[in-house]
Amino acid sequence: MALSLSSFLVPISLLLVSGGYCATVTYDFDVGWVHANPDEAFNRPTIGINGQWPIPPIVATKGDRIVVNVKNSLSNESTSLHFHGLYQNGSTHMDGPPSVTQCGIAPGSSFTYNFTVDQPGTYWYHSHSRGQYPDGLRGPLIIHDPDSPHKDLYDEEIVLTFSDWYHDLMDGLLAGFISIANPSGAEPVPNAALVNDTQNLTVSITPGKTYLFRMVNMGAFAAQYVWFEHHTMQIVEVDGIYTEPTDADMIYMTAAQRYSVLITAKNTSDANFAFVGSMDQDLFDVIPDGLNPNVTGWLVYDNGKDKPAPQEVDAFEPFDDFTLVPVDKEEAYSHVDHTVQLDLKMDNLNDGANYAFFNDVTYVAPKVPTLYTALSTGANATDPAIYGSNTNQFVLGANEVVEIVLNNNDPGKHPFHLHGHAFQVVSRSDEEAGSYDASNAPELPATPMRRDTILVRPNGNVVLRFRADNPGIWLFHCHIEWHVASGLIATLIENPLGLQDQLAGKIPQNHLDACKTSNEPTEGNAAGNTVDLLDLTGEYKSPGELPAGFTARGIVALVFSCIAAFLGMAVISWYGIQPVKAKTG
Ligand code: C2O
Repeated sequence: MALSLSSFLVPISLLLVSGGYCATVTYDFDVGWVHANPDEAFNRPTIGINGQWPIPPIVATKGDRIVVNVKNSLSNESTSLHFHGLYQNGSTHMDGPPSVTQCGIAPGSSFTYNFTVDQPGTYWYHSHSRGQYPDGLRGPLIIHDPDSPHKDLYDEEIVLTFSDWYHDLMDGLLAGFISIANPSGAEPVPNAALVNDTQNLTVSITPGKTYLFRMVNMGAFAAQYVWFEHHTMQIVEVDGIYTEPTDADMIYMTAAQRYSVLITAKNTSDANFAFVGSMDQDLFDVIPDGLNPNVTGWLVYDNGKDKPAPQEVDAFEPFDDFTLVPVDKEEAYSHVDHTVQLDLKMDNLNDGANYAFFNDVTYVAPKVPTLYTALSTGANATDPAIYGSNTNQFVLGANEVVEIVLNNNDPGKHPFHLHGHAFQVVSRSDEEAGSYDASNAPELPATPMRRDTILVRPNGNVVLRFRADNPGIWLFHCHIEWHVASGLIATLIENPLGLQDQLAGKIPQNHLDACKTSNEPTEGNAAGNTVDLLDLTGEYKSPGELPAGFTARGIVALVFSCIAAFLGMAVISWYGIQPVKAKTG
């Protein structure tokens, strides 16, 4: 099992040699179906690159240009790539989400991502097309830094990807998830956890050396607790932000988060040690029989010695990332120009299925990618109305200090991700704290932790701040892929007039061709209207609200009540005659 790791080992000498150049790093990715069986339980179709899975890491050095030529050979699905955590300053059109900054890449066609990276750190890349990355299209993206403040502290670096794994394809799982048969919105539970797309991984360790472990959670759903037996982690980077080195015995890594930790090896090779990723089962509505929530790997000092089974842990008491301090000591923004309040809830619509909402609106992708609306509507681009009724859009002014207040009115944990920025986390409540009350706010941390993905606790809140200094169209969404599909997405339209100056006339022909191939308009409002920008006739919308008196609980009771089976039948046929008006997510 050490096989898949070898490609992730990067000798330090190579890193230093490449420093000082600004190279162009080019990847030719032919995206297509392969078969894989990473948990040795079930062979299934999986999305690979160039006929292989696991897919290759993208590796570059700060300052480099990255070019990714994508050919879609999936034949049955369109695709896209998002480079998670990269700010894409000046290149929002390379950010990846279909219907937001591009059209999907249709089967048989090609598309080029081309951008520079000025930010070192640990990132990942993944499909941003509906439900697609859990089928395999996700891998690590590492930007090396010849000037890292920690570069003298370690000898070698090792990338560890953590993920969850489903035996079924997303297409079928999604159909069952967003369905009248699942009115409570119970998310499919993964079948296994993986590290580096395998289980029982071995990592060769040399006594006395210090390693930088770059850890990425590329999972669809599960956060993981991570610990290394008898070794202390020293956190030095979260989501691309260098932190003051901070000790931790156990970390909690939500879907999409990254942690770089230093681990100093023991001085002798007397024993080998287990490390564990353990899926947070609080996220799961049901725990299927026989689910093993853990994935184990080993730090191997001596190949001839045992690989001991991990000890059980008494309690999960992970390190609290809120206390981390960025190396650059950026001070908290104390003055806010623009507050974006997002109240999260889950509820049913009149198709009987369960959806996710911000401020009572569930996201539905517009007809025209939001970027193309912003670029084609002149001075009207600052009017939120033109971006449609279901995009949860907010227009941000140039250089405003923006505050996102997120109130989680749901008993679940949610990992929220912002494209285009890392944010300061200025407040995070305990669970059950209710909505944020600005008049009774906790004291601002002086130098708040920054990252691009943050956990908001059950029925709690979080307050995030950033400066709107990056014109672009940036999504803010829950990174649980089920909740992306059920609409837990907002769209930030940052400095649209500045964006026009930056990009008008500069969208590459192959991007426009992607829209032509799939017959999607590239001009006008969210409905594709180029004449009357306030006329949204024909836009894509969510199903309507339930008639008064119907509640999720009522649907559950009706659909599943055996006693009143005839009533259940009546309800099903009542829903069955509702027209399906919407194209979702
Ligand atoms: Cu990891 Cu919207 O992305």
